[in-house]
Amino acid sequence: MKWVLAPLAGFTDAPFRRLCARLGADLTYTEMVSAAGLAHGSSPTRHLMELLPGEGPVACQLFGSKPDELAFAAREADATGRFVELNLNAGCPVPRIVHEGSGSALVKKPELVHELLKAMVRETKLPVTLKTRPGPRPDCVLLWELLDAAETAGARGITLHARFTSQNHGGDVHLDLLAELVQRAKIPVGGNGGVVDPATARAMAATGVDAIMIGRGAVARPWLFGELKGAAPQTVGTDPMNRLFLEHLDAILEFREMLARKYPNDHVPAVDGFVSVKLHTHLFRYFAGRPGAGELRRRLNAIRTLAEVRELAQNL
Ligand SMILES: Cc1cc2nc3c(=O)[nH]c(=O)nc-3n(C[C@H](O)[C@H](O)[C@H](O)COP(=O)(O)O)c2cc1C
Repeated sequence: MKWVLAPLAGFTDAPFRRLCARLGADLTYTEMVSAAGLAHGSSPTRHLMELLPGEGPVACQLFGSKPDELAFAAREADATGRFVELNLNAGCPVPRIVHEGSGSALVKKPELVHELLKAMVRETKLPVTLKTRPGPRPDCVLLWELLDAAETAGARGITLHARFTSQNHGGDVHLDLLAELVQRAKIPVGGNGGVVDPATARAMAATGVDAIMIGRGAVARPWLFGELKGAAPQTVGTDPMNRLFLEHLDAILEFREMLARKYPNDHVPAVDGFVSVKLHTHLFRYFAGRPGAGELRRRLNAIRTLAEVRELAQNL
């Protein structure tokens, strides 16, 4: 079984990917990268495609709705020489993305998915893959049309987030559809949705998928990949846990420095601002569920500088 870190906008940046890879993820994904952003030369979009030294294999996920923009983006991603795979996002339900015809808007348009994948395949020798959902609603399964669109476009893999668009990111994971996809597909199949521990991983593995992709289950629990491969579980509040937090923090600083060095003309936030954003969106989650987590959260909320973060982490 191949264990994969899902693309999670705001979370699967280079520091977190490297941590997950070190702790057992076989493949990690970038946050979704806008094809239109790349076509228009947006710097923040380019930052999403940067890797840290020592990362494992990384797939670059692209989103968009125009074949020429996806072709351009695939060419650009390929030219970096950094990625082992390019992926098309046909599943994100965020309104801003759907309104521009991307993400889960594509679940309803297998023909366009075919065009977009074909445009990407033409531009690269890297494997191109699709990440999608079974359909817009439980009474409208379009998975077989999407599978056909992918296979006939030359995609070399399909990952199914086995929830309908109408379910957003919650509710039942339709493992029956995933199992049927495995039976029908001629290309490798990845399963995604609701895997958070060995029991949920076993249930998904029973569908026969080639790979299991984990999203929220790995946030602030990067050791989950190792645990699923048989390593001892790490629990909240242990020493390794604090060391992981500090390793993650150091990687965030290393990444900020790399961006500032590589993009001297771009706005890269100063150290305290950068750390503060990552702390409040991502890092504080390491401490959720600990005894006294509420109080800790209040202290974390008041933190504005790197020195304060370090002091707090070292004294926990
Ligand atoms: C905060 C957040 C950000 C996400 N960003 C992306 C993204 O950039 N690209 C994508 O294909 N899916 C994205 N997803 C969906 C996840 O990749 C995954 O399909 C979903 O969370 C289900 O897996 P899980 O139950 O293991 O979390 C995102 C989900 C969340 C909660």
